[in-house]
Amino acid sequence: MTLEIKGSQLDHAQAEQVPVWDLFVRLFHWTLVAAISVAALTGFVLGASWIRVHIVSAVLAVVLVTVRVIWGLFGPTFARFSSFVVLHPEKLRAHLDNLRGGKAPRYIGHNPLGALMVLALLLTILALGLTGTMLLGGVYKTGPFIDDLPYWLGWLSGVFHQLLAFGLLAMIALHIGGVIFESRREGENLARAMVTGKKTVAPGNVVAPQKPALVLPAIITAVLLVGGGAYWALVSSNEPPELLDGNGPRGMPVAEAQFDPVFAEECSACHMAYNPSLLPAEDWKKLMAGLDSHFGEDASLDDASTSQITDWLVANAAETADTRPAHLFSLPRKADGTIGAITDSKVWRELHDTPLENGAFKVKSVGSEANCQACHTDAVSGVFSPFNIKLPKE
Ligand code: HEC
Ligand code: HEC
Repeated sequence: MTLEIKGSQLDHAQAEQVPVWDLFVRLFHWTLVAAISVAALTGFVLGASWIRVHIVSAVLAVVLVTVRVIWGLFGPTFARFSSFVVLHPEKLRAHLDNLRGGKAPRYIGHNPLGALMVLALLLTILALGLTGTMLLGGVYKTGPFIDDLPYWLGWLSGVFHQLLAFGLLAMIALHIGGVIFESRREGENLARAMVTGKKTVAPGNVVAPQKPALVLPAIITAVLLVGGGAYWALVSSNEPPELLDGNGPRGMPVAEAQFDPVFAEECSACHMAYNPSLLPAEDWKKLMAGLDSHFGEDASLDDASTSQITDWLVANAAETADTRPAHLFSLPRKADGTIGAITDSKVWRELHDTPLENGAFKVKSVGSEANCQACHTDAVSGVFSPFNIKLPKE
């Protein structure tokens, strides 16, 4: 039954309460609010060391949206996408025109603008999940795309991930604005209706044609899709990562065991042996040419060792690796032409804003900013994954 009588003011005398939002839609809505809040907080405010919480909340959001999409195909009347009036562009246009004139009809399900927003929100969250996974794979070398994506593609996905995240915030603000606007216009608290599930229906309201929920097909599709997705994600994430064998698909850095023994011996006397992939070849050459005045120390070696180490560093320099540090770091050039430390570079200081402010570097067992492995348990590999940050307590 589609009643379409103009006039939006509710006549409460003849109004009746009808169930509109089913239990799943309500649970979905408020769990999604929680999941997106946590993902936004960890993504925008808290730092890289919150990556695990960010991913758990993001995965929850993507699973919720996936199941909501399935419910949009099999669910009851108001959950169905086919009842979203937005799918008829003329009705959307009519609704906008009516709003301008102040006498748009009242829809019991989503009104055309609201439905458009719901679809946009669902799509944006799915796109955030995809770009986030691509960012993890290409840049951080982890997750289902661990072996598939080059750094630049992961980086580009990261740019889109951020744009989408800001877009989502803007859309949420519009969504809340729309709910407040419609609640006033219709004289019914729409946020409360998303809790109770009930709305007041009066003559003149637009009610979508009744459709039964097809629960079994919905459950079967959800189990197949979510189960299949989880299986794919787990299996492809657990593929033996070729990060550390030196022959990775995109030239990953070498493992500790394969460190050049002369380098390991001579360059770990005063600090950790830095992975050669941390710096470009040019920087290693410059650094090795100035060992006699090495950050205020005399680290000079005999010519044979110097040239052996230089060759090895150059052969495994940043240009040969596809990790994040390999794309981030280079030694800053000082005004007098000499080089500074990685830790003096702008990139390094920006990345360490939070721990620098927290006083994490003042902990005794850290000792020096250059003691990367005090906090990065994978520092020797040169990967510096956000999953491997562990701040020492004292
Ligand atoms: C006192 C502990 C500490 C030391 C020492 C340290 N870091 Fe970090 N590093 C951190 C923390 C904490 C973060 C995450 C910052 C945040 O919350 O955004 C981080 C972030 C990073 C990141 C970015 C990781 C990401 O996923 O975004 C890189 C790369 C990195 N550090 C490299 C280094 C290098 C290279 C050194 C040594 C020259 C070093 N760090 C020394 C604590 C440390
Ligand atoms: C005599 C001690 C000593 C030896 C040997 C030594 N270094 Fe250093 N190195 C230092 C000091 C001191 C710093 C300054 C950073 C710090 O605060 O620890 C430094 C810093 C560095 C940095 C910059 C790290 C940063 O971001 O602060 C690199 C890269 C480096 N050394 C590479 C090497 C290499 C390669 C060798 C072997 C050829 C080597 N070092 C041998 C003392 C030494």
